Amino acid sequence: MKISASILDCDFLHLENEIKRLENAKVDYIHIDPMDGHFVPNISFGISMIRDIKKATSLPLDVHLMFQYPSDFIDRIAEFMDYDNNSFITIHSECNSIVAEALAKIKNYGIKAGIALNPTTPIEKLNSVINDVDLILQMTVWPGYGKQKLITEALNKTKQIAKIKNANTIIEVDGGINEENISLLKDVDMAVVGSALWKSNNLNKTVKLLKGE
Ligand code: DX5
Ligand code: ZN
Repeated sequence: MKISASILDCDFLHLENEIKRLENAKVDYIHIDPMDGHFVPNISFGISMIRDIKKATSLPLDVHLMFQYPSDFIDRIAEFMDYDNNSFITIHSECNSIVAEALAKIKNYGIKAGIALNPTTPIEKLNSVINDVDLILQMTVWPGYGKQKLITEALNKTKQIAKIKNANTIIEVDGGINEENISLLKDVDMAVVGSALWKSNNLNKTVKLLKGE
């Protein structure tokens, strides 16, 4: 299992140090959760955060845009990401931008494109873009906050997603994943983990366990 570490609940006063700790623990991606206060009822941080994290790490980024109009920001984010073809930018299938256009914009920069589904969004929503995405992100909590409890019904959708996706498209889940429930993940390539990392008193051991090593 690949682990994408969400910084949403880390210590922002020591962000660089927190990222170094994640690197030492050998997470696979840094998961970044910008929010606009409209698509989700919360604001975390803006896109300058992506710029500074990119400077602080050589790990690939996994950017999860919780924006009503993500398309408006892709050019600026791509500039920070230096046309990095190992990183992902994911937009939500429920957003108000034209999803196919936004995905094309991401891919034009050579960045991998992802589409996210909220816990109850039907997987049919993927039909029109299934050939255009490198990653499908199934939310296993309602987006907007860390530290929530995993919604099992949402997790079960990954089985159906696995049946319709292209071979090279990876499946990611996000929200409420920890050492106890990671074994429930089926057909999942990458798990976003936030609070379970930050409350661990042995980060290296926790990441190893989550990765199944
Ligand atoms: C929630 C974010 C998640 C969050 C996960 O809106 O998309 O990435 O940080 O945090 P945990 O692991 O605490 O659920
Ligand atoms: Zn996220």
